[in-house]
Formats: sequence, C-alpha cells, structure tokens
Amino acid sequence: MDPDDLEELAVKLQGRTVGGWGLVQLAAGTGFAAYVMWAGILMPGFRRVPLKLQVPYVPSSAKQVENVMSLLKGRSGKMVDLGSGDGRIVLEAYKRGFRPAVGYELNPWLLRLSNYRAWRAGCYGKVFYHRQDLWKVNVSDCNNVSVFLAPSVLPLLETKLLAELPDEARVVAGRFPFPTWMPTTNVGEGINRSWAYDIKTVRQTKNKFEGSPE
Ligand SMILES: C[S@@+](CC[C@H](N)C(=O)[O-])C[C@H]1O[C@@H](n2cnc3c(N)ncnc32)[C@H](O)[C@@H]1O
Ligand SMILES: *[C@@H]1O[C@H](CO)[C@@H](O)[C@H](O)[C@H]1NC(C)=O
Ligand SMILES: *[C@@H]1O[C@H](CO)[C@@H](O)[C@H](O)[C@H]1NC(C)=O
Ligand SMILES: *[C@@H]1O[C@H](CO)[C@@H](O)[C@H](O)[C@H]1NC(C)=O
Repeated sequence: MDPDDLEELAVKLQGRTVGGWGLVQLAAGTGFAAYVMWAGILMPGFRRVPLKLQVPYVPSSAKQVENVMSLLKGRSGKMVDLGSGDGRIVLEAYKRGFRPAVGYELNPWLLRLSNYRAWRAGCYGKVFYHRQDLWKVNVSDCNNVSVFLAPSVLPLLETKLLAELPDEARVVAGRFPFPTWMPTTNVGEGINRSWAYDIKTVRQTKNKFEGSPE
C-alpha cells in the first residue's frame, strides 16, 4: 500500500472509535475496500498478545496531544509513548525537545505510518518507533511516559509501571485515568482530558492505604 493511501485512510479514521459498530459504519461509509484494508491494519502484530490485553488503535485528538504535552511541560530527556499508534505523540514530544522520543507499537502499518509522518516532518531517524510489545518493555529508564490505552488494561499497567518506574517519573494518561492512582493534576475536558501522575506521590499515597483493599 502506498503511504499516501495510508495517510488518507488515517485522515478518514481520525477521531473515530474503531471496533464493533464503528467499524461497520465505517465500512458502509468508505466502502468495502477500506474495510478490508482496515481489518488488515488492525489485526497484524497482535497474535502473541492475550485477547484481554488487546487495545485497538484510536488516535489522540489534537487537543488531547496538546493536553498531554502541557502535562509534560518543563521536562526533558527521554520520553516514551506506550502504544504509540501513528506516532503523533512521540513526534510532538520530539518537536518539543524530548531526546530520545520513543514509541512502542505492535501494528506494522501504524509503524509505517509513524515513520512516514516523521519523514514528512523532517524527523525521520530522529524519532524512534519500535515494534515491541509494551508489556515486555522494561521502562525502568523512562522518566517521562505517556499512555492512551483502554480502561480494561490500566489495572495491570499500574502494577507494571509501579514495579519498574523510578520515583522521579511522571506518567501522563490520556482519555482514561488510572483506576487506583492519585493524580497530581489533570487538564482538559471530556475525551480530551489527561491526567498526570508523579510516581513518588503515587507510591506515598498508596503506602498510606497499605493493607486496605483497592
Ligand atoms: C488508543 S491507541 C493510542 C495511540 C497513540 N498513543 C495516540 O495517542 O494517538 C493505542 C495503541 O496501542 C497499541 N498497542 C496496544 N497494545 C499494545 C502492545 N501490547 N504493545 C504495543 N502497542 C500496543 C495499539 O496498536 C494502538 O495503536
Ligand atoms: C476535543 O478536542 C477536539 C479537537 O482536537 C475538539 O474538536 C473536541 O470538541 C474536544 N472535545 C471536548 C469534549 O472538549
Ligand atoms: C524526564 O524529565 C525529567 C525532568 O525534566 C528529566 O530530568 C529526565 O532526564 C527525563 N527522563 C529521562 C529518563 O531522561
Ligand atoms: C529492568 O531493568 C532494571 C535496570 O536494568 C533492572 O534492575 C530490573 O530488574 C528490570 N526489571 C524487569 C522487570 O526486568
């Protein structure tokens, strides 16, 4: 597939929740060919990921990207997006001075799209998109993390991040907050809302309630 076709499809899919009825409506709206293409884009890469941990691709809105960046403002160094989709958060983080800016994504089509967009922005080879399962990435060296995943996987992600991240780390969650963590701050409304968590605070507030059920 030509990158331009991919780009055009991405524009059509912009901001839509894909899956179930969304997918059916999309197929009706953009034609069967687009549906087949989309199914081909959605599926690959995830064979080894347990079904309950599979999270579909829904790109952040422009406002959401802006909100995530505002919660990382003043920080620098390494930035990581877990499940980087079409790479928009990583690319924006790079433009705002994070080095290195890294995304982890399993879907090869989205990785292609990410690299294409990086190339178009003149950042090819400067931002990094890795084809790697986020559950298998050791994030102990990442102090600036962004995630936009489904609520169903966030409890498990809480456990993973708390086990690995240093106290100085800040995690920004887009659209869905972590279920048991105390956020430091949040910004935005509705689907564009984002929450910032300072791991040190999360650990302190968790310890206070140690022994009590979550
Ligand atoms: C809701 S989208 C968010 C995309 C992007 N971060 C953004 O904000 O625009 C979640 C992304 O995570 C990816 N993903 C889900 N599970 C993953 C896993 N185990 N390893 C790597 N990527 C994963 C999906 O392919 C999807 O692109
Ligand atoms: C979210 O942001 C998009 C633009 O990126 C805007 O069109 C939409 O109205 C916003 N939604 C809310 C609930 O603020
Ligand atoms: C994340 O941001 C902090 C604050 O600016 C910075 O000190 C740190 O170097 C960054 N993390 C990494 C791993 O580079
Ligand atoms: C992650 O890497 C750090 C530093 O190399 C190491 O101490 C830690 O045990 C690793 N954690 C996991 C879960 O592999």
